[in-house]
Amino acid sequence: MTKVAVITGAATGLGRATALKLATKGYHLVLVDFNEKDGLQTTADAKAMGSEVHFVQADVSNEDDVKRYVARAVELFGTIDYFFNNAGIMIPFRLLHEYPVEEYNRIMDINLKGPFLGIKYVIPVMLEHGGGTIINTVSSNSFKPTAYNGIYSASKHALAAFTKSIGQDYQDQHIYAVGVAPNTMQTTIAQNATVTLDATVGAAIHASTGKNIAATAEEVAESMIFAMENGKLLTGSIINCAGGEIYN
Ligand SMILES: NC(=O)c1ccc[n+]([C@@H]2O[C@H](COP(=O)([O-])OP(=O)(O)OC[C@H]3O[C@@H](n4cnc5c(N)ncnc54)[C@H](O)[C@@H]3O)[C@@H](O)[C@H]2O)c1
Repeated sequence: MTKVAVITGAATGLGRATALKLATKGYHLVLVDFNEKDGLQTTADAKAMGSEVHFVQADVSNEDDVKRYVARAVELFGTIDYFFNNAGIMIPFRLLHEYPVEEYNRIMDINLKGPFLGIKYVIPVMLEHGGGTIINTVSSNSFKPTAYNGIYSASKHALAAFTKSIGQDYQDQHIYAVGVAPNTMQTTIAQNATVTLDATVGAAIHASTGKNIAATAEEVAESMIFAMENGKLLTGSIINCAGGEIYN
């Protein structure tokens, strides 16, 4: 049976790179994003590789949208074997006391409530069909905050905790979860964050970031697929794609 993968945040960056790699391997794919233009482009590119691929425009922080993309995947393919909880955003670099509550709510809604809603509605499908693997895109900020990035870091620490909880709670049901933690990955996600970047902020971020090797989205996508293929053994753990930066 052809395996079914659902990927959120599949329009650009790591989600797109993962979708294209899975398409070359023949997986059935449901790609989810609120960016319709780029989502449809990724879908067309993945289809051109010969896989059956569908796009669902959805906001991962909206419960009705999440119910809709999960229902669509089941309607199309009968189950969900692999779920990539990957959509995420950054917000401007600030000290904690400088953040407006609106920015706190926005990032927590997308980076934490979004993955929670995905988990909440995908796990019943996996329970009904004998199991599956969830891959959460966490971050090097799940291990250690970089400067001026406290709320993003909190969202990714918490998503790492969800990964560990699934590892602990669902082993007997054959549902596994693995976190993949990019460090410096070359995508456009930081565009939002750099609006507050000046010499002071930049120096603090540089000083709080250890020496590391930057990666392309395509390179990190290889770790996403490794996580997917090895969920049983890796469940509850985080693959640290830190490129040489050490966390104690
Ligand atoms: N780029 C890095 O250095 C880095 C480092 C660590 C972790 N990450 C994580 O990697 C993941 C992928 O990010 P990326 O770097 O590929 O950036 P990206 O901006 O290219 O990809 C994120 C995708 O998520 C989508 N998205 C955002 N909010 C959404 C919402 N509410 N509903 C649906 N889709 C939404 C975007 O449209 C985009 O397609 C994120 O979770 C990010 O936090 C990135």
